[in-house]
Amino acid sequence: MDTHAGLGRFDTLLVEVLDGVATVSINRPDALNALARAVIDDLAELVRRLRHNVNHAPDTGWPVRAVLLTGAGEKAFAAGADVREMAGMTPEQAFDYSRSMQEVTLALEELPLPVIACVHGYALGGGCELAMACDFIYASSSAAFGQPEVDLGLVPGFGGSVRLQRLVGPARARELILTGRRIGAEEAERIGLVNAVLGSKEELLAAARATALKIAAKSPVAVGLAKEAVRTAQGLDTAAALQGEAAVFRRAFGTADMREGTAAFLARRPPEFPGR
Ligand code: CAA
Repeated sequence: MDTHAGLGRFDTLLVEVLDGVATVSINRPDALNALARAVIDDLAELVRRLRHNVNHAPDTGWPVRAVLLTGAGEKAFAAGADVREMAGMTPEQAFDYSRSMQEVTLALEELPLPVIACVHGYALGGGCELAMACDFIYASSSAAFGQPEVDLGLVPGFGGSVRLQRLVGPARARELILTGRRIGAEEAERIGLVNAVLGSKEELLAAARATALKIAAKSPVAVGLAKEAVRTAQGLDTAAALQGEAAVFRRAFGTADMREGTAAFLARRPPEFPGR
């Protein structure tokens, strides 16, 4: 059986696809899955392949319908950008490093598939920023989040100053970024950074998988459009956001999935979404 669903292999990522759910683990456990250049390049390529997979999905039957993003080993989701690599960078190299990973985070947000961050252990700096670019975060009780860049004479560079305040509000984001303070899973859930806290890493992955399978049973086209609608609304005023919603709503009416979903409802039978 092809457990990669055409996603292939990577030096720094482990990928396994089961029942339409791709589990992607950043695989540098000895460095607490720090986001070295090689990891960023692999993540960029992974997202390109997922996008390619989606583009061909109406013909191939949607081999991947949801993604779980996690870290290999027991200690970390990702302990941040790679400090060893950053230490020798010039300002221009740092700018390129920042932009490369920011592009990955944007591509993840734009991917018309649900992506759930499964955080156990450390999600610090770039690790927290990567998790925040996913659709939502589930955490194990061991999870520790933070933006500790100020301890290194740095500032967040992979989207932390943008996404953290959208999730938890500007005052909480300022407090976390200016103090570099680490927070546990319970506090992260209380302030809206995390959707659910699930005990051990195994329990976390099982719960995330259950949610992914629930979403995978829906119209994949509608799921992608719904994700787009929520993202489009961010940062727009109400009138513009409502227009954006109506435009996505209109596109849903051009899909075979919408015709099937409504016909199945009216015929009182379960839908069989064609995925286009
Ligand atoms: N980059 C590179 N290597 C890292 C790393 C990182 N971010 N985090 C951990 N490692 C490496 C350590 O150097 C160590 O390697 P060696 O065994 O070869 O020495 C290995 O991972 C294990 O780490 P520790 O021995 O430090 O493990 P610990 O359990 O004692 O501490 C920790 C864990 C508290 C997470 C600590 O490793 C730590 O503070 N790491 C750095 C966290 C951090 O500051 N992250 C933000 C980086 S800046 C950033 O991300 C900028 C941005 O926004 C783009």
